[in-house]
Amino acid sequence: MTAVAIIQARMSSSRLPGKVLADLGGRPVLDWVLRAATAIPGIDRVVVATSRFTADDSIADWCGAHGVRCERGSESDVLERYHDAASAVGADVVMRLTADCPLLDPHVCGQVLALLRRSEADYASNIDPTTWPDGLDCEVFTSAALDIASKEAVLPGDREHVTRFLRAHRHRFRVESLVCPLSGLARERWTLDTESDLAFLRALTPHLPQDRPPSFVETLSVLDREPAVRAINEHVAADRQTLTARAMELPPNPPSFDVSNALYTKISSQIPLATQTFSKSRMQYPLNSAPLFLTHGSGSRVWDVDGNVYVDMICGLLPVVLGYRDPDVDAAIRRQLTRGISFSLATTLEGELAERLIEIIPCAEMVRFGKNGTDATSACVRLARAYTGRDRIIACGYHGWQDWYIGATTRSKGEPQDVRSLTSLVPYNDLGAIEKLMAENNEGFAAVIIEPMTSVMPAPDYLSKLRDLAHRHGTLLVFDEVITGFRFALGGAQSVFGVTPDLAAFGKAMGNGMAISAVVGRAEIMREMEEVFFSGTFGGEALSLAAAIAVIDKMRREPVIETLARTGETLANGVRAGIARYGLEGVLSIKGHPSWMLLQFSDQKRARKEALRTLFIREMIRRGVLILGSHNVSYAHGPNEIAHVLAAYDSVLATVAEKLAEGNLEQNLGIPAIEPIFRVR
Ligand SMILES: Cc1ncc(COP(=O)(O)O)c(C=O)c1O
Repeated sequence: MTAVAIIQARMSSSRLPGKVLADLGGRPVLDWVLRAATAIPGIDRVVVATSRFTADDSIADWCGAHGVRCERGSESDVLERYHDAASAVGADVVMRLTADCPLLDPHVCGQVLALLRRSEADYASNIDPTTWPDGLDCEVFTSAALDIASKEAVLPGDREHVTRFLRAHRHRFRVESLVCPLSGLARERWTLDTESDLAFLRALTPHLPQDRPPSFVETLSVLDREPAVRAINEHVAADRQTLTARAMELPPNPPSFDVSNALYTKISSQIPLATQTFSKSRMQYPLNSAPLFLTHGSGSRVWDVDGNVYVDMICGLLPVVLGYRDPDVDAAIRRQLTRGISFSLATTLEGELAERLIEIIPCAEMVRFGKNGTDATSACVRLARAYTGRDRIIACGYHGWQDWYIGATTRSKGEPQDVRSLTSLVPYNDLGAIEKLMAENNEGFAAVIIEPMTSVMPAPDYLSKLRDLAHRHGTLLVFDEVITGFRFALGGAQSVFGVTPDLAAFGKAMGNGMAISAVVGRAEIMREMEEVFFSGTFGGEALSLAAAIAVIDKMRREPVIETLARTGETLANGVRAGIARYGLEGVLSIKGHPSWMLLQFSDQKRARKEALRTLFIREMIRRGVLILGSHNVSYAHGPNEIAHVLAAYDSVLATVAEKLAEGNLEQNLGIPAIEPIFRVR
């Protein structure tokens, strides 16, 4: 097995031309990288791969003069350049290095290589997720994987970035990541891309060992000692995202869902509907025109088993509020993982999280934790029943899968009639409906449980009048903040609308994807929990608690809530403009709070709203946007993603207008319209 490090190098660079041969302490930058590459444990040979352009002759000449093998190939098709270089030197395993990383740590690279070998992976790297300083980048892959990528990759971006195809197709290639053991290092910038990077490196390198490549810990300790050096290019580090963020590239043809469909056939024989969640099932997606299984996510993007990438407007059905693989949350989970997951007694994490919730949520005097939103809403209902000694419940909105709620909906199969009759559903903003129920019912109601806001703003004083009405009847007011919590405001919708309920349920975004929910409320009612049975093995599971603490701390530290609202507003404005542009005012509208906006299609003479929505979802997916009917924005939806989504809207709304004008939209759809699971909002 021959392992070859191939260093890609070229003279052209938009920000710092000629950087790879720039002088750094009396030697060209490329020489630093070569010295480090040669010292990597397990690497048999080191090769430089540059382009055939005459501008790159100087690299080939330098290599010739210093006895370094240099292969030349395509300038833009770097994948082909790697493939040809790897074949020319007979590599079985290829390590991809870049010539702008003079502080490369041979031992980190050696670990990436060892990881590939020991895990029998096809690809291993230390760049995905981003946890190491920028400038220690190392990727390793087998020649077999490189062969496949070079034959199959068609997108220009996949050809330019060499390994993107492998990382996108995780259902086919086994991908492993070496995560930095020290957290917070992703902010360090040790690469060479700008004049200030060069100034930084020139100031730093005299402090480093001169006779061998520095280890990353040595580099770090110099920087910790010399903050003035770090400050030289700190501003560039802050712009890292902007520098590296790329506009999304769409497949040239409609995406293929062959792997999704084949997996569905297999898995649906083992798992009813092949998923755990109705809203993630095939029932909710256009037939044969949508992905059914995802492999991974990063920021606001997700990849499916066919290797297609999407801007994700669903975000796991709303938990992923900071984005996939948020570095702060992931670091908190990893830190807790070194201590344990579930314990035989409570941990102090429970108190740490409770303390934060009590600080931020107006109604929270005491707190209990659950795993799903349903745990929390159902615990509120049980508490209210225990506290009031009454059985009946008034519900408004969606509250989860438990008997007390789902029995009152049209999806009540399996629910006993006695349970079903205890819950009455009412429309939002209709105080009269609740007044009527309360007047008609002598036994009284234990609670009114309501989503404080969904697609429309509460009517003036609706929520406060509701609270007063409930209290006049000895009924508790429960806010279901499973969606609104950690999204509308850190303290939930109750802090936005200034109405404090007796109890509230939180979930979804609380753990950025970890399974955690909370019941919070007045201490006098919460104390009932000392007798009321709300008790589960995993209520105090520590990874989720650690994640929730990290989410809250980040939301307090950074403008997450404001950014969500701003992103949502920008998207909504763009969508409204598109609706006007294509004359679709009576067809589609967008409503709600900016951080969670809902799309509403209306029945047309020649098309049912379900058919319109099906067409919309299918066409958005074709354009690389995974969407169901709402904008579930995350902190990771940046300007590139917003631009991508709005461009997709523009073209999809044009298609909708066109198909409507043609008539017979539903028949021409060619697939069944998606029918709702039930209507609740
Ligand atoms: C408002 C609301 N409440 C409760 C729930 C139930 O939460 P879970 O699915 O986590 O049990 C949901 C889920 O979508 C919800 O949207």
